[in-house]
Amino acid sequence: MTIERTLAIIKPDAFENHHVGEIIQCIEKSGLTLAGMKMLRLTASQVERFYYVHNDKYFFPLLCEMMLSGPVVVMLIEGESAISRWRQMIGPTDPAECGPETIRGAFGESIRHNAVHGSDCPDSAAFETAFFFSESELV
Ligand code: CMP
Repeated sequence: MTIERTLAIIKPDAFENHHVGEIIQCIEKSGLTLAGMKMLRLTASQVERFYYVHNDKYFFPLLCEMMLSGPVVVMLIEGESAISRWRQMIGPTDPAECGPETIRGAFGESIRHNAVHGSDCPDSAAFETAFFFSESELV
């Protein structure tokens, strides 16, 4: 049994569409545990540093613009195989490829406005959770 930590972000589109409560409920119902949570307006510097792996992609400016368009909720989720379980719950990047049982299938509008983020592997999860949370901020 591997207890993992991963990062979830409720993105500005889901925030604007009032899906914050439903997304948190999905996490709680799944049996994963919320160990940290913050509501933030990200800065351009934070977005560029957080998504540095995509900075050479054609969609990077659009991604930054979207993440700066409104508030986000960042959460540290903990539990057995949390990284893969959260990725499975959110579905593929493009909501058009997601089943209705996934969070992006239910709440995403497009590949750009895809409702939520999830760390894709242990290295990303370590970088992304430390990016937003220090140990003293976790319950
Ligand atoms: P996320 O899982 O947060 O990781 C990178 C993000 O880039 C992704 O979700 C999408 O929001 C965004 N993204 C990926 N591909 C595209 C694209 N083709 N056009 C616009 N945004 C994209």
